[in-house]
Amino acid sequence: MRALFVGNRDRILEEYDSRPLAYVRTTMTPHPSHPTPHRLIPTGPASFAEGSGLSPQQWWEVVAPPAELASKVHALIPASGVLEVEQLERLAGDIAADAAIWEPLVIVDENRRRYRLLYDDDRLDVWVLSWMPDQGTGFHDHDLSGVGLSCAQGEVCEKQMLLPAGTSDVAMTAGVTRNGLPGYIHSVAHAAGTPAVTIHAYSPPLVRVGQYRVDENGVMHRSIAHGRQELLDHSIAAVDPARA
Ligand SMILES: [Fe+2]
Repeated sequence: MRALFVGNRDRILEEYDSRPLAYVRTTMTPHPSHPTPHRLIPTGPASFAEGSGLSPQQWWEVVAPPAELASKVHALIPASGVLEVEQLERLAGDIAADAAIWEPLVIVDENRRRYRLLYDDDRLDVWVLSWMPDQGTGFHDHDLSGVGLSCAQGEVCEKQMLLPAGTSDVAMTAGVTRNGLPGYIHSVAHAAGTPAVTIHAYSPPLVRVGQYRVDENGVMHRSIAHGRQELLDHSIAAVDPARA
């Protein structure tokens, strides 16, 4: 096992790398700044859209960032180690401020939320998400990954569950940034713009997500999903309108 991370996250990394992941690590075309890169890829297309009822997106297109754009992102990344969430937030904001980096990866699709990988290495991955009306993630967490996000265009609404009822409601317009530690639970949904565009940076790279759903008895469950699977809204709001 490679020692990818620093400080008190070494212990977390050991758990992170030892669990039975639905991924394999593979060597792909070297990034100019990373002579021996590794990328996380799914073991097959079936794992990508399993349970979604949707056809997989063109996977290799989704996870193949153009080298020129990846190089621009690399120039913005701190030198070493796992990024703290404040660093991820700053990185997401810096990328959002430069449309030349993210605009080539924007996709307009009324039928499904689109996302494209902008950069990845052993320390982090960065994504460009395009949001059209009625598209949202539902409540989820990022497992062991910290997250920084920013809005580059349009507007999205970010929510966190409040107990005993309700949600927070953060309007993210262009230039607004947020961050969340590992375990951070939130939902993101389109609010304005066709499309709205957001930048999401994760460190360590996003391997798993926890998706929250409520069964017919009102019991909430966390299901673990592939970190690169399309998140869908599992309608906690349908059984609890206070969280709409
Ligand atoms: Fe998220």
